[in-house]
Amino acid sequence: MKKLFITTLALLTLGVASASMAAGDASAGKDKSAICAACHGADGNSPSNMFPKLAGQGEAYLVKQLQEFKSGVRNNAVMAPMVAALTEQDMADLAAYYSKNNIAPAATSEDLVVAGQTVYRAGNKETGLPACMACHGPTGAGVPSAKWPALSGQYAAYIEAQLKAFAAGTRSNDPNSMMRDIAAKMTADEMKAVSSYVAGLH
Ligand code: HEC
Ligand code: HEC
Repeated sequence: MKKLFITTLALLTLGVASASMAAGDASAGKDKSAICAACHGADGNSPSNMFPKLAGQGEAYLVKQLQEFKSGVRNNAVMAPMVAALTEQDMADLAAYYSKNNIAPAATSEDLVVAGQTVYRAGNKETGLPACMACHGPTGAGVPSAKWPALSGQYAAYIEAQLKAFAAGTRSNDPNSMMRDIAAKMTADEMKAVSSYVAGLH
């Protein structure tokens, strides 16, 4: 009896440990990504700004998003069925694949450089808006270990749509309401300018 208990305990502990540490295999991820390619491109550089680029994004951030589309914490009607059948290992493999690819650069509209750079680097002292740079980094590379996403090179249309979704609360998977609080302080012009700015940032 005691032996059985110990064995069960050991197995449980092992299960927990492997679930939280599922290491991604990029080449397995490549094989599993065929179904994603129609929208996100073969290497994660989406052919259309209707779909976010995944190439070069932080691995742990990607895993978090896939888990949350599946659990519904990030509510999206297009992505939910895409992840419904994925296992933790599939998610880890896909994230490993996309994160090792390079994002294709996008461009900033000339007329929005100054306004976008101001928001990104300094925020807005009058409204208490923090600088995006504080968490997303001076070059927009994010902090992969903290699951703070990279923004540089992403389509402006996607960035702007996410800021609006955070402000409206329709995207609510940000830890401690970090991005909802920030987006709620932004004007529509600030969202547009900073989205254009990060697209061309590198
Ligand atoms: C039919 C098109 C389509 C397919 C196929 C698709 N996606 Fe998506 N994906 C989307 C859309 C649209 C979004 C943006 C959702 C939103 O606005 O929140 C998205 C968002 C994502 C995100 C979040 C990116 C970010 O920066 O937060 C990840 C990760 C992702 N998809 C991975 C995948 C993977 C992996 C597959 C294949 C298993 C896949 N997608 C298949 C359309 C698609
Ligand atoms: C206090 C840290 C912090 C600051 C400051 C911050 N962000 Fe974020 N941001 C985050 C975190 C954390 C996430 C990831 C949320 C999640 O886990 O889904 C995020 C996600 C995002 C996303 C979604 C990315 C994607 O691929 O879907 C956008 C867009 C974004 N932030 C833009 C901005 C902009 C623009 C600013 C400046 C006005 C800003 N952020 C300031 C922490 C921050």
